[in-house]
Formats: sequence, C-alpha cells, structure tokens
Amino acid sequence: KKAVTAATLLRAKQSDEKIVWLTAYDAVSAQIAEAAGAEVLLVGDSLGMVSLGFDSTLPVTLDHMIHHTAAVVRGRSHAWVVCDLPFGSYQKSKQQAFESSVRVLQESGCDAVKIEGGEHMAETIEFLSERGIAVVAHIGLTPQSVKKFGSYGKRGKSEGEQKQLTRDARTVSGAGAVALVLENIPADLANAITAHVEIPTVGIGAGIDCDAQVLVWNDLLGISESNPPFAPAYANVRETMTDAISRWAADVKGGVFPK
Ligand code: KIV
Ligand code: NA
Repeated sequence: KKAVTAATLLRAKQSDEKIVWLTAYDAVSAQIAEAAGAEVLLVGDSLGMVSLGFDSTLPVTLDHMIHHTAAVVRGRSHAWVVCDLPFGSYQKSKQQAFESSVRVLQESGCDAVKIEGGEHMAETIEFLSERGIAVVAHIGLTPQSVKKFGSYGKRGKSEGEQKQLTRDARTVSGAGAVALVLENIPADLANAITAHVEIPTVGIGAGIDCDAQVLVWNDLLGISESNPPFAPAYANVRETMTDAISRWAADVKGGVFPK
C-alpha cells in the first residue's frame, strides 16, 4: 500500500473522500488499526488518561510521547503518524515548539506534530511550517486548557465563541497547518469551518460534515470505563478481556489449568 502523506489528505478533501483517523499508543494497536482501515494514527496525549493512569493530559511529557510514538511508528507500514506535543512543550515560544518538534520527529520517526490552539498559535505554526514541519492544529475543546475552562464541555456555544473559532480555523490554515482537529463543537459550526478552510478538518464530537473523523482507541473499542457522549463504542472489549482473564484465573485457582 502507498504511504499516506499530508498531500493524500489534502487530495481527499478536494475529492470529498472521508479519511479515517484513530488514536494509537503502541505497536500492536498501530498494526490492528492500520489493518482495519485507519489511514492516520494519532498518538494523542490522551495517552496520559487512557494508558498511563493520569487524570488529565497535563502530566504527559515529551519523553512519554516519544516513547509511545516510536512504538506506533514501528508498528505501522503506510499510515501517517501524528504525535501530540504535550502541555508545556510548545507554548513558551516558537523556538521551544521547534525544538520539541525536532526531538519528536527525529527520535520517533513520525510524520507530523499536533498542537492545541488557534489564532494565538498561528505564529508558532507558521514558524514550524516554514521550516518544513507538518503541523496539525486542534481547536474547540482543547483538553490541555481544562484547568482554565473548568470542564470538558462543548465549545462554540455562544456567537462570540463561534466567531473566534471561525477566525482560529482561518488563521491556522493561513499559517500553514496541514490539517485541523475540531473537538466537541456544534455540527453546523464544524460544517461552516470545513467549507471555508482549504485544509482538511478532523472531527471528534463535531458532526458528520468534517473531512475526517477521529476517535480514541479505548472509546471506540469499549475499553474505557465510560465514553464521552460523542464517542460511541463499536465493541465491548473491556468485558471480553475481563471475561477471558477471569475464566483463566478461575481455572488456575481450581487447579485445572494447564489442562
Ligand atoms: O489526545 C487525543 O487523543 C486527541 C484526539 C482526541 C483528537 O487529541
Ligand atoms: Na490530544
């Protein structure tokens, strides 16, 4: 199969072909996701919550992200791999963002970095983009700002917020971002943004009109203890794993394993 690139994603938008993104955190999930049709593997900093046991994404470090992204890259064959820059690794200055991106790209071998923020990150996105780095932007619900907002609730509910998000989308696109994640915003706003920016939008809780969709691995497979309302589980893998382990544990306790 041909390798997916930033150009593939742009062409897909232009020809109205939907693109499948999924998070992945290690080599085996990368292999399974890709074999099942995921075209972009996002090593999200959701890693902190779904795999590392933190209660937000704030404690995730660049070293954590590189460790897991390198595993995803080893597991993929043709998918495009994007690594989230974690909290504190890019907000200080565009130079800091550049240094963090270089570490991620060189030490993991991934294809792109993702940063949270709109208009206020445009200068940084432009700085990275001009230096040849593929940058994905992420606006709407931005979990690294949860302490400021106080919740993981929907964004873009007021007219003022909708205007700002529209401006954010236009600005990051103009700054050279190659794709734009829209998280937990009204479907009609995501539709308008998707129609008005040239770069592909990737929706999560942002309605059906985005150019691509992304879900968190653990939510899609029913491994999470609970899912956000916009992330339906397509399987009940937590139950399947619990059942297998408990039947084996009972066999060991009962002295009937190995048979
Ligand atoms: O960290 C993550 O998994 C993400 C996606 C939900 C977009 O940023
Ligand atoms: Na993230």
